[in-house]
Amino acid sequence: MKKRSLLMLAVTATTVVFLFSVAYAAQKAADNITMNSKVYKKHKKVLVTFTHKKHNVGYKIPCNDCHHVYKGGKNVWKEGNHVQKCDACHKEAKAPRVKEGEKGPSKKEKIKKYHYSAIHENCKGCHKDLKKAGKPTGPTTCKDCHPKKK
Ligand code: HEC
Ligand code: HEC
Ligand code: HEC
Ligand code: HEC
Repeated sequence: MKKRSLLMLAVTATTVVFLFSVAYAAQKAADNITMNSKVYKKHKKVLVTFTHKKHNVGYKIPCNDCHHVYKGGKNVWKEGNHVQKCDACHKEAKAPRVKEGEKGPSKKEKIKKYHYSAIHENCKGCHKDLKKAGKPTGPTTCKDCHPKKK
């Protein structure tokens, strides 16, 4: 290879690495996130606004309580790693209703596959556990998170 093309290659590679680090370093969550996953063809409920910053900073909940990448059953995600949207992995909307007499998927299987199960387990699950423990927490009933549409 000529010297000139080697130089071009080096420049291109450096640029790519630089752009990647900018994209990753710049990843930041909005203080408040309107939860609006594309897995739902249509939202039947009022969209929920999630107070991301308040949960993390105000309520002191660590990132990896909510963000994860599982490897061999362990959460290996660390602060600073790229964050994917929940529906990147919990890809389907909601588990279909199970017919009478048929065996449906387990709770664990549902959470792994369906966004509906994963998100409710995360949000509602934590609030319910804290409520049981008598601690201050967020809403646990449908209408407190999804008020009636007007
Ligand atoms: C702690 C808050 C919270 C509670 C409690 C809660 N949800 Fe949700 N729900 C959410 C969030 C967040 C989403 C995800 C919306 C998205 O990303 O598009 C969601 C999604 C949904 C969806 C799919 C999206 C849509 O609008 O059609 C339905 C249906 C739904 N919830 C129904 C319920 C029902 C029924 C209950 C009570 C049994 C309930 N939720 C309790 C927060 C909550
Ligand atoms: C209580 C749960 C919770 C905590 C704690 C939390 N997050 Fe999040 N975070 C979420 C949810 C839910 C979303 C929205 C994901 C979606 O839209 O699918 C989100 C979104 C993000 C996004 C945007 C992702 C995108 O592509 O839109 C980033 C970046 C992020 N969080 C980083 C962090 C970091 C860093 C911390 C800790 C300093 C943290 N989060 C703490 C729940 C949490
Ligand atoms: C990189 C893929 C990936 C992303 C992104 C992801 N999950 Fe998961 N999640 C998984 C897998 C895989 C499991 C199943 C782990 C098991 O069953 O051992 C899981 C399990 C869960 C569980 C049950 C176990 C636990 O850790 O509490 C909940 C709740 C959950 N996810 C919610 C979420 C929410 C909310 C988001 C977005 C903030 C999210 N997940 C983003 C892959 C992902
Ligand atoms: C690990 C625990 C945990 C998770 C996960 C969690 N929350 Fe909360 N949430 C709390 C606590 C703690 C409070 C309030 C504590 C207080 O008032 O001091 C709260 C308060 C709230 C409130 C009322 C005050 C506010 O900040 O708006 C809403 C609404 C809420 N959460 C929605 C959600 C939604 C939607 C999700 C999922 C995307 C979620 N929460 C996930 C722990 C959690």
